[in-house]
Amino acid sequence: MKVLIVDDNEQNRYMLETLLRGEGHEVLSARDGVEALDLLKSSGAALIISDILMPRMDGFQLCRAVRNDARFKDVPFVIYTATYISDKDRDFALSLGADRFLVKPDEIELLGQTIKEVLAKKTSRVEPHPLGDEMEFFRQYNEILFRKLEKKVADLEAARQELQEQLLERNQREAERALLEEQLRQAQKMEAIGQLAGGVAHDFNNMLSAIVGYCTLAALNMKPDDPSRHYLEQILASADRASTLTQSLLAFSRKQAVNLERIDLNEAVSSFEKFLIRLLRENIELRLAIAEAELPVTADRGQIEQVLMNLIANARDAIREDGRIIIETSAAEIDDQFVRTHGFGQPDRYALLTVSDTGSGIPEDILSKIFDPFFTTKEEGKGTGLGLSMVFGIVKTHRGYIDVYSRKGMGTTFKIYLPIAQTPAKQAEKKVAEPPPLLGGTETILIAEDDDALRNVEVAALSRYGYTVIEAVDGVDAVARFTENRDRIRLVILDGIMPKMSGKEASEKIRALGPGTKVIFISGYADDTFSRAGISHKGETFLRKPISTSMLARKIRNMLDE
Ligand SMILES: Nc1ncnc2c1ncn2[C@@H]1O[C@H](COP(=O)(O)OP(=O)(O)OP(=O)(O)O)[C@@H](O)[C@H]1O
Ligand SMILES: [Mg+2]
Repeated sequence: MKVLIVDDNEQNRYMLETLLRGEGHEVLSARDGVEALDLLKSSGAALIISDILMPRMDGFQLCRAVRNDARFKDVPFVIYTATYISDKDRDFALSLGADRFLVKPDEIELLGQTIKEVLAKKTSRVEPHPLGDEMEFFRQYNEILFRKLEKKVADLEAARQELQEQLLERNQREAERALLEEQLRQAQKMEAIGQLAGGVAHDFNNMLSAIVGYCTLAALNMKPDDPSRHYLEQILASADRASTLTQSLLAFSRKQAVNLERIDLNEAVSSFEKFLIRLLRENIELRLAIAEAELPVTADRGQIEQVLMNLIANARDAIREDGRIIIETSAAEIDDQFVRTHGFGQPDRYALLTVSDTGSGIPEDILSKIFDPFFTTKEEGKGTGLGLSMVFGIVKTHRGYIDVYSRKGMGTTFKIYLPIAQTPAKQAEKKVAEPPPLLGGTETILIAEDDDALRNVEVAALSRYGYTVIEAVDGVDAVARFTENRDRIRLVILDGIMPKMSGKEASEKIRALGPGTKVIFISGYADDTFSRAGISHKGETFLRKPISTSMLARKIRNMLDE
């Protein structure tokens, strides 16, 4: 039997065609009412199955046209529609002379049965259809069409919204991934530069120590009015600047020795305010907004102060006329959402240190370079470009994160996240005014240092201060020398890293042999033993290379008198 299906949707047509051909029917397909009428006129059909909403001529109009044509008025007409809104649709279709009204896709299984029924003329068609009145037809037709369109529009809107949401979500995921990749790339770059800078700085530092040491010795040998004394002072001043530079590089590459202790970030910032103010001009206001609750962190107080100094100095330089710098501390939590939107962080509780300024801001194209060592926009001689590199390295050493928000002309905000220490900070020690230093002495001191030049300088210097000095060339040698002379040695100076046995290990052996012995560690390099454990034993102290001999002498005297 010949069946004419009318549907504007290709998939629907295909499905119906397959279904009907499967049942042995011959199938004609039309995409709308106009095509259907043409086909009907040229080929005829024993049954029409039509959708409602279609371009040019819809299902209602087609049904009406078929019923009004004497040749086809008896051809069974089945409406098969996806836009069923109310019984009114069904009633209207039936009143136009349709035989059945089926709803897609739920009623597809009824289709076969329905076809059989309409062909057997079992259905009761409304006849003659009452809509002789054109006006009434169009009124009802409009009403139904209008409702259908409304529903279509609503469906479309819902689909559009869903698409938009999916698109937004995808864009967001892509942005998050790009952010993570960028952060990783940046981290790898910093790691590579850090390795390089750290290696150079380490060697450089040892050479500087020798320069400073020999100069100090030479100065000690000179008469006060020696004309060359001035040159030595110049050398020492330059060496001092060079030493600041190597310290910055070591800090950046996380190779600077650290002395970790539990401190309250609030207290560390507040007590440093007086010093920070000295960095500023009169027309720059410094404001502190300190959190009320304690913010315990495990940190090197000196390094935290270096961070503040660098950030404040940068803020000052970015403020042209007058302006304001705000330092704020608060508690912050990094959660999964934060990690997704920022591209960094390990979920945990943090102490947040924020430094913002009303300065010139940082142009977007240089924002990714500001932490690079030697990157500076300052004129020759004004900036080394190591300030933020050092800040970066210090923050990393403290297992923290640093983030910067800035736009040209809009000021700058640096945010530093430091992990909250699990146990509360110990009470800040009261600083007692140090008595004027009494430099020399006659005690016996053991010095262990593997670098010959450095050791010679130290031995010569301390001998000049009156001490008896015993030398050792490595950790094992130090323990041996100490064992031989344990009754005499009051104080031991150990290089942090030495062949055969580290300074820390040697100190443990020495303190086991002579429990009261004072120990000074000297290191220019972060040794894990120092950074992790800190120097907590009584009678032990820690000095950072390069160190001037007068400073060393003062420290020795202080310790011996303790
Ligand atoms: N608060 C800020 N406002 C505007 N620009 C800044 C700020 N902080 C840093 N910068 C930019 O980042 C660059 C690098 O800063 P960094 O502290 O590393 O080096 P520097 O200040 O130039 O030199 P140094 O710190 O050694 O004196 C600066 O030259 C400046 O362009
Ligand atoms: Mg700087």
